[in-house]
Amino acid sequence: MATLTKNDIKVTRTKNSKLSSIDFNNLAFGQVFSDHMLVCDYKDGKWQIPEIIPYSPITLDPSAKIFHYGQSIFEGMKAYKDTKEDVFMFRPMENVKRLNVSAKRLAIPEVPEDYFFEGLKALLEVEKDWIPTNEGSSLYIRPFIFASGKGFHASPADEYKFIICTAPSGAYFSGKVKVLIEEQYSRSANGGVGFAKAGGNYAGQFYPTQLAKAKGYQQVIWTDDTTHEFIEEAGAMNVFIRINDTLLTSPVSDRILDGITRKSILQLAEAEGIKTDVRKVKVSELVEASRNGSLKEMFGAGTAAVISPISGFGFRGEDFDIPELENTFASQLKNRIINIQTNKTEDPFGWRVKL
Ligand code: PLP
Ligand code: COI
Repeated sequence: MATLTKNDIKVTRTKNSKLSSIDFNNLAFGQVFSDHMLVCDYKDGKWQIPEIIPYSPITLDPSAKIFHYGQSIFEGMKAYKDTKEDVFMFRPMENVKRLNVSAKRLAIPEVPEDYFFEGLKALLEVEKDWIPTNEGSSLYIRPFIFASGKGFHASPADEYKFIICTAPSGAYFSGKVKVLIEEQYSRSANGGVGFAKAGGNYAGQFYPTQLAKAKGYQQVIWTDDTTHEFIEEAGAMNVFIRINDTLLTSPVSDRILDGITRKSILQLAEAEGIKTDVRKVKVSELVEASRNGSLKEMFGAGTAAVISPISGFGFRGEDFDIPELENTFASQLKNRIINIQTNKTEDPFGWRVKL
């Protein structure tokens, strides 16, 4: 099959740009959306050529299977602009590949990689002016696929929509994050869909997270569904724990999202001479480390959250504060990754992709 190029993608431009109404100095996360979106339909057994159209609502049949059986997956990525107005993506092929890992698990037809990547590049060309340049802001990119095909039969749909929307965004969390270690509810289970970026994984987290929020925590730290003894990940990020001078994170599994930020941090840490250990971490070990003073830092890592320091955790009714250090691995690694993403430093890893 011939590879799709940018020129194959039809672009219909909006006549009513919202750009001048956006306050780029006060951006929340994912609240305002750029003028255009990429839309690609799956029908008659194949993905059709993607198009770029003005950002607009979508009409769906009430029997569309997304509403009933939740066939829905998504990705999260960001675009950055440097001082010369050059645009960069961060490891975009990792997202392209992961979307299809999720697609396979949810019985959604895989999107040809060039449809996604060429489509994304074409969309970013059109939306260049929407990429913020102020510190801490970027253009958040949300590719997603859902079942638009009709019918109440509990089986995969015969039609799908793949859409990419973008949202100029500021920080996901404002300030430090306090987390609750969850022992009753589970985010995912062995053999389940935890490793996929499936919409339902997030829906299932909302109720336990609401309960945690009511107690003053911003996120839940999920533990394994069998014993609830081991730390897995947070609601929207992978988790790192620094005990003395070693940075620990759980291995990924079919219950945990294989985070792109997580694997970048592991490589960066190694390059910075920080000792890492990818192994299961028991909640009891974390509690013990907090009590004896060897717990130095904890942080979450993800595209939206970047690196978000965790100020403390709750467990079985007790609160454990993590005292603030002066020079943290979190800030060192955050600076390194942001400088690479925004073209402020060399990129020895080849992660940055110029538009
Ligand atoms: N874990 C979950 C559940 C997430 O939603 C995310 C966010 O994408 C991550 C981890 C971090 O993944 P990434 O670094 O690829 O964004
Ligand atoms: C991301 O970091 O891109 C995510 O997908 C997290 C999201 C749930 C906001």
